[in-house]
Amino acid sequence: MADAMWLSESVARRAASGCTFSVDVDRVGEDARSLRLRDEIVRRLGRPIVSEAGRANVRLVAGVTSFDSDEAFSIESHDGVTVIAGNTTAALMYGLYGWLRRRTLGGTPTDGRIVSAPDQPIRMIDHWDQIDGSVERGYAGESIFFGRPGSNVHAEFTGFPQRDETDAFRGDMDRVEAYARFLASVGINAVCLNNVNVRGLATNLIADPWLGRVAGIARVFSSFGVSTFLSVNFAAPMRIGGLGTSDPLDPAVRAWWAGVADRIYERIPDFGGFVVKADSEGEPGPFAYGRTHADGANMFAEALAPHGGTVIWRAFVYNCRQDWRDRTLDRARAAYDHFRELDGRFAKNAVLQVKFGPIDFQTREPLSPLIGGMSRTNLIVEFEITAEYLGHQIDVNYAVPQWLSMIHADTGRDDADGRPLETADYLRDVAVDPSRVGYAAVGNVGMDDNWTGHKLAQSNLYGYGRMCWDGSLSAGEIAREWTRLTFPEADGDARATIERILGTSNATYERYTAPLGVGFMVNRNGHYGPGVNDYEYDRWGTYHYADRDGVGVDRTVATGTGYTGQYSPRVAATYENLATCPDELLLFFHHVPYSHVLHDGTSVIQHIYDTHFAGAAAVDDYIAQWETLAGRIDDTAYENVRERLQRQRENAIAWRDQINTYFHRMSGVDDAHGRVIHR
Ligand code: GCU
Repeated sequence: MADAMWLSESVARRAASGCTFSVDVDRVGEDARSLRLRDEIVRRLGRPIVSEAGRANVRLVAGVTSFDSDEAFSIESHDGVTVIAGNTTAALMYGLYGWLRRRTLGGTPTDGRIVSAPDQPIRMIDHWDQIDGSVERGYAGESIFFGRPGSNVHAEFTGFPQRDETDAFRGDMDRVEAYARFLASVGINAVCLNNVNVRGLATNLIADPWLGRVAGIARVFSSFGVSTFLSVNFAAPMRIGGLGTSDPLDPAVRAWWAGVADRIYERIPDFGGFVVKADSEGEPGPFAYGRTHADGANMFAEALAPHGGTVIWRAFVYNCRQDWRDRTLDRARAAYDHFRELDGRFAKNAVLQVKFGPIDFQTREPLSPLIGGMSRTNLIVEFEITAEYLGHQIDVNYAVPQWLSMIHADTGRDDADGRPLETADYLRDVAVDPSRVGYAAVGNVGMDDNWTGHKLAQSNLYGYGRMCWDGSLSAGEIAREWTRLTFPEADGDARATIERILGTSNATYERYTAPLGVGFMVNRNGHYGPGVNDYEYDRWGTYHYADRDGVGVDRTVATGTGYTGQYSPRVAATYENLATCPDELLLFFHHVPYSHVLHDGTSVIQHIYDTHFAGAAAVDDYIAQWETLAGRIDDTAYENVRERLQRQRENAIAWRDQINTYFHRMSGVDDAHGRVIHR
């Protein structure tokens, strides 16, 4: 059996030792979930459930509170008795895990009452898993859902005990169950099983016979309070439906999708809905019929509405056939240019999913101007947990600081009292349906023994879930929790070492890769390692424009692509003006000479050299720090990270030397400190 992700069974059992439980969910009657809740207590925690509440010292009670959120819970302790309460069984599951986490982190609970409610109603993981078992941008082995035959099934929850050789499902329901538990234990409540690029046979997941297998997986997730979504292909009516068109305004097409939704809901009553990537990177979409993306999204919304489902429509739409010679084109503008004018035209059960930055999950990007630009649209902000541009789970990169900076960024809009709205509050403010906003993130797990390839990469999945639930936590607090739950055997110093590495890792990676927000100087073959000019004369629309005098993309209104004008006046002014533009985004917004002086007094060229030397040196330091942990933490985890750090070191050196040499050759400026720059 695979390694535990956090709150392993032994840790959970320890936290619950000496407790007897009672479970009172009669008033809410959610059978699969209450069965699961009891199973978690009896089998996983190894603790008895007693029938008389009076004899239990931990009492779980659903339906007695009236919290605004059906997922909120309270934990109240007095005189050795703890009551965990919420409106629903799902809330009790969160409460049980919240209680276990607190017991593990904080030792003995003291008397008192806490109430905990999620910040965001939609807290989702998107899998880019493909039915051949591969995972697009996955770095932790094969898909946990699809691929080679697996072992077994828990017939009790899935009802599908057999797999046959032709089907695309892995069938390892133990793995699915363990994963569902992990997600529930950090508050994730939605999962999309398949890649947004729905190719070939994956188009058929919405139909029999595979729908039955999807239903089996969905039942497991549902028992943990997680609803299942599927990515669908916009052209499915033609590709698998036998229709001559996929026009979203064609009545036959609409009827076809309605029929698909009806059949899915017969099998999966709490199915979440569809995720759609349309007119993007070669995927089909409404543009082929002269229709808008609101027309497209609303067609799915109509099909799903009778069942309470949601369509999640991605805003990642841009021209990936740009001509680098055309300096007026700017990929950063694309999402806003496409979607701003559709504000207010999406159905109540449609949600627009916007990547956090305007380009594509780079190490440093400003907040997307659509987040702030819309005023009557349900929005999801999309993150990427899988480390596509952040080191492939070979390099340690705890990305929670980056994500937190996005959810706390100024959207440029004010609330009714004139106070600036951060992302998290803004989503609520502009929602058409406040229960349909939140966060989604591309997942990072696979069949690797430790789930995420790099043991420390687990912290990103954990941290993402915690951030969705409680955006007021700091990156340091989340790292502390994860380290404690994951390495219960480690002493305080060892944990502090791990936390220190995690806490600085995102900045370290930024230092030896892309300076000052420039982005995409990456190897185009897979996005790992340096490739300074790989995207420079290319159709994907991502450039740095380095020449002998300077570097950066002029996105100003005054002299550039006009991108800064997509922000509200407050935010636009900050970025437009060289004096106020934050250094870390300087080259994202401006083309400046190498001699340009940053706010700390360093020139741009010297900053490039300094950060690249410092970034690579930090990795050497991580190796030295990590080696002090030998014998003080679990051996497998120790060896795994040690091996990854060695590879990270090679990568950091490759980046350091290629970037420094490139900019030295371009600028002719020597390093002020005379360090080695290869000629
Ligand atoms: C990135 C990624 C693709 C993915 C795309 C998306 O460009 O490299 O693999 O399909 O994002 O988000 O749709």
